[in-house]
Amino acid sequence: MEVQLVTEAGPRGGIKLAQHVIGMFDSGVGGLTVMKEIVTQLPDVQIIYFGDTARVPYGNRSREELIHFGEEIISFLIEQGAEAIVVACNTSSANAVPVLREQFNLPLIGTIEPGAKAAIQATATGNIGLIATEATVRSKAYSSAVRRILSKRRGGHAIELVKAQACPLFVPLVEAGLSHSPEARGIARTYLAPIQEAQVDALILGCTHYPFLAPVIQEILGEEIILVDPAQAMTEELKEVLKQLEYNRESGQETHKAPGHHRFFVSGDPVLFERVGNTLLPGQIHDVNQVNWNR
Ligand code: DGL
Repeated sequence: MEVQLVTEAGPRGGIKLAQHVIGMFDSGVGGLTVMKEIVTQLPDVQIIYFGDTARVPYGNRSREELIHFGEEIISFLIEQGAEAIVVACNTSSANAVPVLREQFNLPLIGTIEPGAKAAIQATATGNIGLIATEATVRSKAYSSAVRRILSKRRGGHAIELVKAQACPLFVPLVEAGLSHSPEARGIARTYLAPIQEAQVDALILGCTHYPFLAPVIQEILGEEIILVDPAQAMTEELKEVLKQLEYNRESGQETHKAPGHHRFFVSGDPVLFERVGNTLLPGQIHDVNQVNWNR
């Protein structure tokens, strides 16, 4: 079946891809950088967002903990009506998504493959860099994905992830609403020095919190280094998932649901989430619900 994608322009004789409910999660506000890209390109999709702010940061968690958190949150999002899940967290994507995909019978979109593909496209010299959490760097998920993608291709020049740098203080700064502070700038200079030395020409922002700091990072590195945010490539993957959901619906496997408003849930402080979230998506984060896991 031919499915046409319909966005702001409205139906063009195709099937409207608007009425789907997508669950998203992150340790905190970081996943909102992915949500921003999704709602820009697919304005009618309904998002149910979960920020695990009581357990942020994820960056120093073990693989077992990350799998356990993912299981809890995805189950919750399914209860709320999610038809597919966007894991808007690199740390969970790198450490938990392969296991979670085996456990849940719905599409899971992670950050790693889309981010690696986007970086391969962006680099001209073949030298890719990565900044991410400790747990993402430790997993080596990005370098494995770059190798896996390249192994399916022939020819071309050598492309490699030449430097991976953990930036553990970035997430607490972003969560506290301090992305534009002098402290953030000073810490960024320290973290980015090894990246500058490695002479990369494309840098993966391998944590969804980091686009909050993109202006600072770009200013320190200079305009000639391309910052690769996986969010855009993740949205392309989501479009494919939506086509499949539409197909399932059309073949009678599901009933139509009315589109609704985005909904926000957190495990920690809803007020702080709303305040910091609205700096990125002005006026769009409201009525944030606090979820108590010991329900
Ligand atoms: N934003 C998340 C990521 O992309 C989690 C960061 C953290 O909580 O340490 O990795």
